[in-house]
Amino acid sequence: MQTTCFMILLLVKLALGTTEVDSLLEIKRGIHQDGSGKVLGSWNPKSLASDGCPLDWYGITCSSGHVTALVLDGLGLVGGFSFALITGLSMLSNLSISGNRFEGTISNEIGSIALLEHLDVSSNLFHGSLPVEITSLKRVVHLNLSLNNLEGVVPSGFGSLSQLKYLDLHSNNFKGDAMNLLSQLGGVSYVDLSSNGLIGTLDLGLGSDEFVTAIEYLNVSHNNIGGDLFSHDGMPFFDNLQVFDASNNQFVGTVPSFSFIVSLRILRLGSNKLSGSLPEALLQESSMVLSELDLSLNELKGPVESISSTTLRSLKLSSNKLTGLLPLIIGHCAVIDLSNNLLSGNLSRIQGWGNYVEEINLSSNLLTGTFPIQTSQFLRLTSFKISNNSIGGVLSLVLAAYPEIKTIDFSHNQFNGTLLPNLFNATRLTYLNLSFNNFSGTIPVQENNSLVSLEFLDLSHNSLTDHLPREIGNYQNLALLDVSNNRLEGGIPDNLPGALKVLNVSYNNLSGIVPENLKNFPDSAFHPGNDLLSFPYSSTSPKDVPNSNAGHRSQKRSYTKPILIAGLIGGVSSLALLTLILCYRSQQHNERDHSKQSSEKQGNQQEISSVLATSAPNSSPKFSTTSEHNISV
Ligand SMILES: *[C@@H]1O[C@H](CO)[C@@H](O)[C@H](O)[C@H]1NC(C)=O
Ligand SMILES: *[C@@H]1O[C@H](CO)[C@@H](O)[C@H](O)[C@H]1NC(C)=O
Ligand SMILES: *[C@@H]1O[C@H](CO)[C@@H](O)[C@H](O)[C@H]1NC(C)=O
Ligand SMILES: *[C@@H]1O[C@H](CO)[C@@H](O)[C@H](O)[C@H]1NC(C)=O
Ligand SMILES: *[C@@H]1O[C@H](CO)[C@@H](O)[C@H](O)[C@H]1NC(C)=O
Ligand SMILES: *[C@@H]1O[C@H](CO)[C@@H](O)[C@H](O)[C@H]1NC(C)=O
Ligand SMILES: *[C@@H]1O[C@H](CO)[C@@H](O)[C@H](O)[C@H]1NC(C)=O
Ligand SMILES: *[C@@H]1O[C@H](CO)[C@@H](O)[C@H](O)[C@H]1NC(C)=O
Ligand SMILES: *[C@@H]1O[C@H](CO)[C@@H](O)[C@H](O)[C@H]1NC(C)=O
Ligand SMILES: *[C@@H]1O[C@H](CO)[C@@H](O)[C@H](O)[C@H]1NC(C)=O
Ligand SMILES: *[C@@H]1O[C@H](CO)[C@@H](O)[C@H](O)[C@H]1NC(C)=O
Ligand SMILES: *[C@@H]1O[C@H](CO)[C@@H](O)[C@H](O)[C@H]1NC(C)=O
Repeated sequence: MQTTCFMILLLVKLALGTTEVDSLLEIKRGIHQDGSGKVLGSWNPKSLASDGCPLDWYGITCSSGHVTALVLDGLGLVGGFSFALITGLSMLSNLSISGNRFEGTISNEIGSIALLEHLDVSSNLFHGSLPVEITSLKRVVHLNLSLNNLEGVVPSGFGSLSQLKYLDLHSNNFKGDAMNLLSQLGGVSYVDLSSNGLIGTLDLGLGSDEFVTAIEYLNVSHNNIGGDLFSHDGMPFFDNLQVFDASNNQFVGTVPSFSFIVSLRILRLGSNKLSGSLPEALLQESSMVLSELDLSLNELKGPVESISSTTLRSLKLSSNKLTGLLPLIIGHCAVIDLSNNLLSGNLSRIQGWGNYVEEINLSSNLLTGTFPIQTSQFLRLTSFKISNNSIGGVLSLVLAAYPEIKTIDFSHNQFNGTLLPNLFNATRLTYLNLSFNNFSGTIPVQENNSLVSLEFLDLSHNSLTDHLPREIGNYQNLALLDVSNNRLEGGIPDNLPGALKVLNVSYNNLSGIVPENLKNFPDSAFHPGNDLLSFPYSSTSPKDVPNSNAGHRSQKRSYTKPILIAGLIGGVSSLALLTLILCYRSQQHNERDHSKQSSEKQGNQQEISSVLATSAPNSSPKFSTTSEHNISV
């Protein structure tokens, strides 16, 4: 009797042990491609510990014969993944397979992994809807299904997941009412539902008290949620909310008074249909810790008063209908974007802005006057954009003196006078756009500018004269040069940098021959205008040159393309043939050496088989592992 019992127990234990390893081998079989070789190379059915646990299998944690964690994040694995296979892993508490290319559905078997605490299948190719069984995972703390192709309505029952702290469903195709899900949630601290197709309203006052108290991060951006924010009962009493992102939805009404949420650090409500005036309380010094406020792309009206908050670092109010003068002070803001509004008056007010500012964008407003010189305090300024206003006068030397300046966009204004030589040797400057003004005189490029990092130089649509200076050739990183629509004369220097991707010198009075190294640029880079400028190898008169040359060049291109393509096809097919031969040989070789197979070889064989499997989808690759270890049946 006792021996029988012992035998039965032993058998049961054996059966269970092999089932877990077997499940893993089934999962392995689903992996068609493993670039790093970590899984196919280490999941060796012969490498088992005495308790039946896999020994040194990548990503597997196992104790007393039971797999507790399966962690295969970011390996770029390609293949299928079936949740039916892991139901055998009875002690599994951590399943994390993010950042691969696993396909499949989240099938209802998911509900039977009762001990699961951490489920992360994010950033894969899972599709289909979410089964209601997911709400059986009573122990789950961390649930990340983001960045897949999941769809349909999120099932009800999330309320029963009492341990849930992190819920990330972003970037799928989930539909249905956002509140259906949110009103069920308990004490979660992180919820990301962004980038789905959710509708309805955001009446968080209807949510549980537990939720309102616990939530720290809530992202519902990029959905179709509408109505007034918190229309039911007003702003709920969030105790711990730090990040709230409801941008890119259809919200209407005024901006609620978030100023009572003292924990709030980031508030984004951009790209909605919010109206009314700016929530001044968010801009004033207070007990708030708000550091980022984005209300851009709404329909806000009225003035921007002084900003006295000392915590606010980023203020984005662009594309509204704000009116009045620029704010007198901006507190400790590093980023201030007031572009595309109806702000008027002159720039003299920025003289009061502190030295915290790094990016200023005042483009597309109704600003007038001249550029103020008393702004030398901008020691951290990296980007200064005031394009598309009516600001005039001459450029101020202070511009070239900002030590960190990288981007200057003063295009589409009424500046006149000469260009500043100092701007052309400002060492960190990468983008200079002074187009559509009325600058005159020469292009004052400095002789020793080889250390300058300039990449984009747009001086088009001005009244610049004289020749195109040879020193431009020293800007080694220059990718764009547009000097079109000026009054430049003389030849084009033959030393323009090789990095150049866009060139436009049209609508000038340039003459001579286009240098050899520029012959790949289209005709419209040189003409109309420049009637005396001709292309090399031309026997015709300069006037006729543009067209005949354009034809010549495009003919040349249409020659080289087919040749290139033919070459490519030839190369690819001979490579494919070689691969096939190699695969065939090594498979035969492997089959011969079947008994002596080392674990390393086995990994190789699987890789080769998977190559064959992918190249011929209907052939079923033969795995030695199948015959050797399917002993549980
Ligand atoms: C599960 O694995 C992930 C990835 O290694 C890890 O970040 C997480 O802490 C683990 N969670 C649990 C509950 O073991
Ligand atoms: C979910 O996964 C994505 C992609 O792997 C990651 O960026 C995100 O931070 C994860 N969410 C949580 C709450 O950990
Ligand atoms: C909210 O989600 C969107 C889209 O997934 C993302 O781009 C954005 O950075 C998130 N917001 C915050 C504050 O993390
Ligand atoms: C304003 O300029 C900043 C800094 O370059 C940039 O990040 C921002 O996108 C610009 N705003 C708009 C509306 O283009
Ligand atoms: C210039 O600003 C006006 C409004 O001031 C706007 O309508 C127009 O689209 C802007 N142009 C560009 C090129 O941004
Ligand atoms: C700006 O406008 C004010 C009056 O509104 C004027 O006193 C000041 O001189 C102007 N400053 C500049 C730099 O245009
Ligand atoms: C310079 O500004 C003009 C007008 O705002 C714009 O059309 C052009 O694309 C800009 N140039 C570059 C190189 O960005
Ligand atoms: C610049 O334009 C202003 C009028 O807008 C004019 O008074 C001034 O003389 C011009 N300066 C130069 C150098 O052309
Ligand atoms: C830049 O050019 C100006 C004017 O020629 C000159 O005074 C200055 O020293 C130059 N700066 C550098 C860093 O070369
Ligand atoms: C630009 O300046 C020139 C003189 O340099 C002047 O003749 C012309 O009228 C100005 N154009 C505009 C639009 O102000
Ligand atoms: C650049 O050249 C000017 C004179 O052309 C000279 O004064 C200056 O020291 C040079 N700067 C560098 C950094 O070589
Ligand atoms: C050069 O500028 C002119 C006038 O602005 C434009 O019509 C043409 O398309 C531009 N050519 C290239 C190559 O960008």
